[in-house]
Amino acid sequence: MTNEYLPPDNLYTILSTLKELNNYKDVDAILDKLLLEARKITQADAGSIFLVDQNKLKFSYIQNNTLFDEIKGQAELYSDFTIALDETSIVGYVAMTGKTITIKDAYDIPLDLPYTFNRSFDQNSGYKTTSILAIPLKTYESKLVGVMELINAKDAKGKVIAFNTFSQALVPLFANNASLAIEKGMMNRELILRMMRMAQLRDPAETGVHVQRVGAYSAQIYQQLAIKRKRPANEIKRTKDLIRLASMLHDIGKIGIQDCILKKTSRLTQKEYDTMKWHTIHGARLFENTTSELDLMSKEIILFHHEKWDGTGYPGKIVNLNAKTQKMEQPWKGKQIPLAARITALSDVYDALASKRAYKEPWSEEKILARIEKESGYHFDPEVVEAFLDIQDVIKAIGNHYHDFLNYPD
Ligand code: C2E
Ligand code: SIN
Ligand code: SIN
Ligand code: FE
Ligand code: FE
Repeated sequence: MTNEYLPPDNLYTILSTLKELNNYKDVDAILDKLLLEARKITQADAGSIFLVDQNKLKFSYIQNNTLFDEIKGQAELYSDFTIALDETSIVGYVAMTGKTITIKDAYDIPLDLPYTFNRSFDQNSGYKTTSILAIPLKTYESKLVGVMELINAKDAKGKVIAFNTFSQALVPLFANNASLAIEKGMMNRELILRMMRMAQLRDPAETGVHVQRVGAYSAQIYQQLAIKRKRPANEIKRTKDLIRLASMLHDIGKIGIQDCILKKTSRLTQKEYDTMKWHTIHGARLFENTTSELDLMSKEIILFHHEKWDGTGYPGKIVNLNAKTQKMEQPWKGKQIPLAARITALSDVYDALASKRAYKEPWSEEKILARIEKESGYHFDPEVVEAFLDIQDVIKAIGNHYHDFLNYPD
């Protein structure tokens, strides 16, 4: 090492970041925290993370202080592009060789190097990339999870400079731990998708993308609502992390519904619909004796996602989840219904209306929005509807990202 001074703050930052990464459950929350802290340590203006996905590098996270703040950048998170796993690109080279590389000027890379700088992001956004620090994200077993690219280190005056030797030494230090946390986050989402696939195995219209959309809509609506309520940033991040996964589970109880009802291609009779309502109780039973925050939120969402703001939903006050007969009267109303369930109610209906179901065709965007606005204060919490309407660009980006091909045959 050189004789540059290492501020001890950085060590504490790294240690506490690693601890926090392990507290987050979902991969997006983990990527967000990792990139934020890596950028703080290196004073990087921007950065992105690519994750390995089926022999490609898939764009998975971005932050850019110059182009957009954390809030305006949310739609960017659902961009779709991949980079080939080969040495011709910067991130591809890092992935293939497992080496950290630093670049002083992206527009002046020596021609004898195998990789070149892809200018398309700069060209499309008007951003000017200069210095780059690209780090492989590998677990201790040297399994490559992805590549993190930090862009434009800045000095105290905000002038773009090269990444210094400390950045080059420090950031790779927590890459191993961060990679493990990312792997765990991806596994959590995979596990939930697998559970949901089992629950809805018998319903051909049900795919993982539907579940992922509902999770993403809920996370983003929650974030917008919490920002408007001026909640502290760390509370927002924690809850957003939980609600994404918990919301994905909302219909797990459909596993207890017979084929003849679940797969029915026409309207349900009243009796069949009454049976269908049991999916809230079947699901909540799975989370009955749990204490983790994620499990508690999952249970609230599963049990209450069909309650309505005006008190006309179901299943209502349940005394004993395990009782064989339930009254399903006395529905909850207003803020008696947990916030996470009020949010998921809107995400679920929005997605159900936009999708093809065995029993219905997709509705037009116009018709859906008109219905949701009309139901504000009746089916839905008006504050939740307002947050949803605020972020239509993000909602659309999510719809395009988790695209249900089943719904749109060519
Ligand atoms: P789902 O298909 O995921 O629908 C979730 C919720 O979206 C529904 O809750 C309802 O509030 C709303 N929704 C879905 N489609 C429509 C629609 O065409 N018009 C209107 N106005 N709202 C709609 P809900 O009603 O409690 O239903 C819960 C689940 O019961 C549904 O989940 C679906 O699996 C099943 N289901 C409901 N109605 C029918 C039906 O007529 N036929 C069949 N086969 N299944 C149904
Ligand atoms: C909460 O913010 O979690 C409670 C208040 C509400 O339900 O709106
Ligand atoms: C289903 O329609 O079978 C469940 C997915 C949803 O919540 O819309
Ligand atoms: Fe449901
Ligand atoms: Fe649903």
